[in-house]
Amino acid sequence: MLTGKKILLCVTGSIAAYKSVILVRLLIKAQAEVKVIMTTAAMDFVSPLTFSTLSKNKVLSNLFDQEMWTNHVMLGRWAEVMLVAPASCNTISKMANGICDNLLQATYLSAICPVVIAPAMDEDMWRHAATKRNIDLLKEYGHTILPVNNGELASGLTGEGRMGEPEEILKFLEKFLSEKLSLSGKKILITAGPTYEPIDPVRFIGNHSSGKMGICIASEFAARGAEVTLILGPSSETVSVNVTTIKVTSANEMYNAFFSYFDESDIIVMAAAVADFTPEDIALQKIKKNGNELTLKLKKTPDILSKAGEMKTNKQVLVGFALETENEKTNALKKLHNKNADLIVLNSLNDNGAGFGHDTNKIIIFNKKGEEQLFEKKPKREVATDIVNAIINFKNE
Ligand code: C5P
Repeated sequence: MLTGKKILLCVTGSIAAYKSVILVRLLIKAQAEVKVIMTTAAMDFVSPLTFSTLSKNKVLSNLFDQEMWTNHVMLGRWAEVMLVAPASCNTISKMANGICDNLLQATYLSAICPVVIAPAMDEDMWRHAATKRNIDLLKEYGHTILPVNNGELASGLTGEGRMGEPEEILKFLEKFLSEKLSLSGKKILITAGPTYEPIDPVRFIGNHSSGKMGICIASEFAARGAEVTLILGPSSETVSVNVTTIKVTSANEMYNAFFSYFDESDIIVMAAAVADFTPEDIALQKIKKNGNELTLKLKKTPDILSKAGEMKTNKQVLVGFALETENEKTNALKKLHNKNADLIVLNSLNDNGAGFGHDTNKIIIFNKKGEEQLFEKKPKREVATDIVNAIINFKNE
């Protein structure tokens, strides 16, 4: 299953480096191509000669080698997956904060492939708030963090923080590279965030959408090897580096940006909370507060999802969102049919911790065959995984 797969293994300074020696052996046995990067600290634990002998490739560790520059950009592009195993607390922190002081970091910052991280450290370091924050940041960037095991640690203590066993990591990679990267080469178009409809040069009509849900979906698609374009309304959220982001402000701008990518897209997910109405006239100067009332005349914005539903071909999958406050199911199904979507993701503002701004969401997915899938409340990152899985299942049926 791993035959010919290009794996860039990055080894950092942890006693678990010895397990990566076994991992390289297993990967080579499985006929993968392996290149190894080692940090200086990793070399205190295992010799580069061990890795170069097993991987049949020269081990890389310096940005400059005998006056030659190591092309970290091409190394990042060569890899189908970058696996950091063991990932020390120090390297995790540097990756989370974009520090570029060695070959591993430079390669990581220029890599466009999915990144998988297998942490290894003592339990107290693993549980520290700083490490937790760094791990959360890495997940936000769209990377996969492998679970740590419980057991004997280098300190002599027993607890959480052991790197996964080589066999477990191998199994994970086989699944990841066959399933996760099943979207390799597919083009995905996503809308996310609110839109701001200008009233005058300083004011607008907007809504509370943060863009988080759509951004998590974009990251999940990117992690599975797809080419993702995100049309993002005003949002302060960070977007994974592997996603092409087009920033827009108003519904009209979102409409124009969206349709310049629509025809070439295989899967389209419309998670944006697009304003339904926009001021008919935009005042050229700031409106003064004369009198006790101000009447704004609003006109309808174009419904991007409806238009996409009219235009879509049989090969495209179109997914809409419905954020409802009453008659949720009826309204969601109406949207599914009226807008000619294949799937509708419903989130209700009546559910605690669902919808705008929250880090969690609770959804029901309806498909046009009349089936529904109900999910528990969970972090938006995990909800994104459920949504992407549902889209793939729908596509494969
Ligand atoms: O009808 P409603 O606005 O509630 O439908 C929500 C769905 O339609 C979402 O997927 C949203 O992104 C999309 N939509 C759109 N253009 C609009 C309004 C909503 O694409 N003008």
